[in-house]
Amino acid sequence: VQSFGGSPYDGPKFREFCDEEGIFLVEDSAHAIGARIGNVPIQSYSHLACLSFSTLKNVVTLGEGGAIVTNTPEFGEAAKKLVESRALGTGHTIEGDSIWKGTKEEDRRALFRPGDAFDWSWLSVEEIGLTLRLNGPAALMGSLQLDRLETIIRKRQNQRDYYASKLNILRTSENWLMGESIGSSNHLVNLFINDEKTREKILKSMDALGYAPVIRYLPISYQSVPRWFGLKPGMTPVYENIFFRHLISLPIGPRLTRSLQKKIIMAVNLATSGF
Ligand SMILES: Cc1ncc(COP(=O)(O)O)c(C=O)c1O
Repeated sequence: VQSFGGSPYDGPKFREFCDEEGIFLVEDSAHAIGARIGNVPIQSYSHLACLSFSTLKNVVTLGEGGAIVTNTPEFGEAAKKLVESRALGTGHTIEGDSIWKGTKEEDRRALFRPGDAFDWSWLSVEEIGLTLRLNGPAALMGSLQLDRLETIIRKRQNQRDYYASKLNILRTSENWLMGESIGSSNHLVNLFINDEKTREKILKSMDALGYAPVIRYLPISYQSVPRWFGLKPGMTPVYENIFFRHLISLPIGPRLTRSLQKKIIMAVNLATSGF
């Protein structure tokens, strides 16, 4: 499941279904850090939720970064082991090695770093994997933003609500802002425009303002990894139709000042004013 644009997916319903069917529920939560149902973070409903801290996300760590969140003990244990940067399995320190003398097994594990495997001999390897680690400055930047997450979300919510109150095109029921404001992490403000020609006019008008709209999020049938696995354009027709003909992603985020937002709103309102 994906919490698209930061709108929480229907956690209780999906979790109940997956528990009944014995399926693990994995959430693409790249947009959804800070999203909640009531007071419950949306990630709590997933067996495993994947967060992204890459450029333009709600929390960013200098380019690349991410995390997994889980409350499923077996995944939690596996994740803790992967932190050690070594294959999962059993082994022992090479005899006579002075580095580890006098240390307890659990302390050695905590101190393990890439390269230390030279001191270690494997008896059996159960699993190999890849650990991607945030460097220190990136982790610091992420953790400072996590402390401010409520404020970050509130500002985004405020920006979304401002669009909602000022865009004339929303006064008819055929156009709407996708997802709810409350409970969402408000990562994207996606405007659904029913009439394609009106959408074109809005895009042109935003372009003329010097703001080249980036429409998000590309259908998975157009993305590289799913295509390696056989997905092809045309295979997700419902969303492809929305993406190519009805969607506009309005700017949101820390660099959107109120005066820039007013200009964007004016551009959209002019484009749809009928003149
Ligand atoms: C919905 C969604 N899933 C996954 C990703 C990938 O995140 P990352 O680049 O951190 O792997 C993105 C990034 O844009 C995204 O928007």
